[in-house]
Parts: sequence; C-alpha cells; structure tokens
Amino acid sequence: MKNFINLKDVPTSDLRKIIEDAKKRKIKRKKFNTIDIDKDNPLKGKLLIQMFEKASSRTRLSFYLAIKQLGAGTITIKPKEMHLGKGGESLSDTAKILSTYGDAFMLRTDSDKKMEEFSKYLKIPIINGLSPSSHPTQVLSDIFTVEEIKKKPISKLNICWIGDCNNVLNSLIAASVKFSFKLNIGCPKNYEPKKFVMDWVKKNKKKINIFNEAKKAAKDADVIFSDKVISLNDKVNKFKKMKDFKKFKIDTKLMSFAKKDVIFLHCLPRGSEVIDEVFFGKNSKVWLQALNRVHIQKSILLYCFDKLR
Ligand code: CP
Ligand code: NVA
Repeated sequence: MKNFINLKDVPTSDLRKIIEDAKKRKIKRKKFNTIDIDKDNPLKGKLLIQMFEKASSRTRLSFYLAIKQLGAGTITIKPKEMHLGKGGESLSDTAKILSTYGDAFMLRTDSDKKMEEFSKYLKIPIINGLSPSSHPTQVLSDIFTVEEIKKKPISKLNICWIGDCNNVLNSLIAASVKFSFKLNIGCPKNYEPKKFVMDWVKKNKKKINIFNEAKKAAKDADVIFSDKVISLNDKVNKFKKMKDFKKFKIDTKLMSFAKKDVIFLHCLPRGSEVIDEVFFGKNSKVWLQALNRVHIQKSILLYCFDKLR
C-alpha cells in the first residue's frame, strides 16, 4: 500500500505512471455512463472512507465517481459526527477503527499535523484531499489536463501562477521540480512562497522565478493558473489582502502578455481574482480541469492500492 500526501514524496516515475494510466482509462470510458464500472473492475469490494474538515464540492464528488468507476464504494464522514479528538477518542484509536472498516482514507484537513498523525497510525493508504500546505490530487490532475490540451510534456511549456502563494501553489512548485517545467510566479512582495517551500526547491537545485509584477510573470506563458486570494479558513485581514492583490487580477490585458494559445486554469471555487471575460473566455479550460479530477484520482487510488498497470 502507498500513501499520497505530498507530490514531493512520490517518485517522479510513479507520478508519470499515474498520468499514463489515467490517459488510458479516460479513453476507454468514452461510451460509459457516469457510474458504469471500468471493465477490469480493479477495486471490486473495496471501501474508501472520506472525511472533510472543510467544505468541498469537486474533491468530494470526483472521489465518489472515481471509486465507483473502479468498482468500489465510499462513505463520507464529518469530524463532528465522529468520536475524534477533544475528549471524544484519540486520533490513533480512530485511525485503527478506520483501518478496520475501510480500505483507504481520503482526508481534507486544516492541520498538516493531523495528516501526518493519521498516516502514522493508519494501516490503510491515506490520500491528501487538501491540507494547509498542499493539494496534490488537484495539481497532478492539472498536469494531466495541461498535457491533454497542449499535447506535449509539461516540461516543454512555460507555466505561470498569478495569485496567492497557497497550498495549491506549493503543490505546483513541487510538480515543477518533479516534472522539470519552467514556473513563473506573480504575487505581491509580502506574499511570496514560504521559506520551507523555497528551501526544498533550492535543495533540489531548481530555479523558480518570482515577480512582483503580474505582466512579467505572464510573459510568454503557455498556461496561467490562479486560485482564490482568500483560501478556506484563511485567518487574515481579508480587506487588506484583497487590496494588496489588486494589481494581480487576471484580466484580458494580463492574458495578452502570454502566448496567443495560452490556457487559463483555476482549481475553483473562484473569487474576484479573475474577470468573467477570461473565466468564461475561449482560453479558459476550467470545466475540463474539474472533470479530469475523476480520471486522475482513479489512477491515484490504484497507485495507493498497488494496482497500477
Ligand atoms: N478544487 C477543489 O478542491 O474544489 P473543492 O474545494 O470543491 O473540493
Ligand atoms: N487554496 C484553496 C483551494 C480550494 C480548493 C483553499 O485552500 O481554500
């Protein structure tokens, strides 16, 4: 069994295998209904337990579809409905119970420590469905989407991120090291990536370009990524942060600095960081991006169950 917690800890060859498997499976499903089971029924009889400490639409539904299409089932639980922590039950006991009833655990949490603790006590694989420091399933899926649209390896493309240096960007940074692609980041001076992230980048001898001017970051981009300025449960002065990001809005002018066939991606949900004209424009691929979560997560699940072809 394998965990899927941070992209930086998964060997690049395995990340590549996951993408290749997702490609093949997606093609094979062309004529299938939403919850028809893949012909090989690879996870028949298995149960994925999902727990969300924060809201989720896409991750919840795409994991539901992913596990169903692999022939297995899922149950979604909320921490408030469980005996967990704070006088309820210790995390280690809960982990043992989850391992008794389920075959894999998907966790969205606002504590990296909790993710780590669960991984220590679980006897079944754990998948990170978003934590304060990363969103690995999202970013691996986004790489799949970029390569599907651009029809070339991401290492041959200029990737740009405009916006907050958050969990999604941390995973994109990890991916830029793993898959060797050029990454330009455009963000205000006081909102640059955290030291622990950049230290890891340095250790891996990678250079990431950080610009405090959006158009410089967007220049010649093949892909422009963005995300909400205010993340879920972000404990900041929202008014001030929004003001600080005013010059980092994705609008038509900013898009014009990128390549003509640039694509715009956003993990969703969105805020006011992108104007409707771009978000609904012809270069935006956000709906395909959301759909592809299903396909990549199926192959991530198979990786965790040691069932990748
Ligand atoms: N992109 C993403 O993870 O969306 P949800 O918060 O809806 O799961
Ligand atoms: N950065 C966002 C991503 C949501 C999918 C957040 O953490 O809220």
